[in-house]
Amino acid sequence: MGILDDKAVLITGAASGIGEATALAAHAEGARLLLCDLDATRGEQVAQRIGDGVQFVACDVTDEEQVAALVARAEEELGGLDGAFNCAGILGTLGLVGDTDYADWRRIVDVDLHGVFLCTKHEIKAMAPRGRGSILNMASAAGLIGWAGAAGYVAAKHGVVGLSKAAALDYADQGLRINAICPSYVETPMVADLFENLLGGDQAAVDAARANHPIGRFAQPAEIAAACVWLLSDKASFVTGTAMSVDGGYTAP
Ligand SMILES: NC(=O)c1ccc[n+]([C@@H]2O[C@H](COP(=O)([O-])OP(=O)(O)OC[C@H]3O[C@@H](n4cnc5c(N)ncnc54)[C@H](O)[C@@H]3O)[C@@H](O)[C@H]2O)c1
Repeated sequence: MGILDDKAVLITGAASGIGEATALAAHAEGARLLLCDLDATRGEQVAQRIGDGVQFVACDVTDEEQVAALVARAEEELGGLDGAFNCAGILGTLGLVGDTDYADWRRIVDVDLHGVFLCTKHEIKAMAPRGRGSILNMASAAGLIGWAGAAGYVAAKHGVVGLSKAAALDYADQGLRINAICPSYVETPMVADLFENLLGGDQAAVDAARANHPIGRFAQPAEIAAACVWLLSDKASFVTGTAMSVDGGYTAP
């Protein structure tokens, strides 16, 4: 018996990192899956690797028409929608607020906040008539505290936390649970890119980031996926409107 046995689950950003790890974990717990990502090549490969019957649809979460079609496809292929994990996101361009290009700012907020809003909106429309469902939105520790040099990302992730809490209140009496998850540093391609390209391979910066985790290391994607699967499942039946930290103590001080 898996904790997602027979649940129909949609995961965005599933071609890589935390989304991919959650797809694997959800499949292992019995979910029927529709995966989505902007990267069609990797997304198809991930779906095939996870197993028979796991489907993939290419979709840009910033495009409302594509998101509406994605959710309709999930309902059609999976026979309804029980759970959704809106994980697609980007780190975007880093820099001081005064040096931030408006187009760069808009791109981050578009993907990380507006994309999550569009998915949440259409998933609610699919779930509300059935009177049940669990939506999990990817925020970040940066949705709870500030990060120097990352105002767009921080603003978008704080927005995801606020959106999730407000939506949870809107639909709590209709059987829907809506939550956000807030990891700190997780060893994914996004963080590898941060360390290698954006920070120029600065080992002191990597060590400082690690030292800010009381647990003494960064997370593995599977450790975030375990929490996501639980939040999507009926095991979390009394959990809604929360922004759950899974961060090795990063935001505890
Ligand atoms: N890695 C971390 O340390 C960390 C920590 C906290 C939160 N997060 C968040 O977790 C999520 C996943 O991050 P990750 O580290 O696994 O990154 P990742 O880069 O490994 O995966 C992100 C995926 O999202 C997809 N994507 C990007 N824009 C998209 C769009 N417009 N439409 C559809 N798909 C799109 C990418 O193609 C990619 O496959 C992001 O929202 C990120 O902000 C990551």
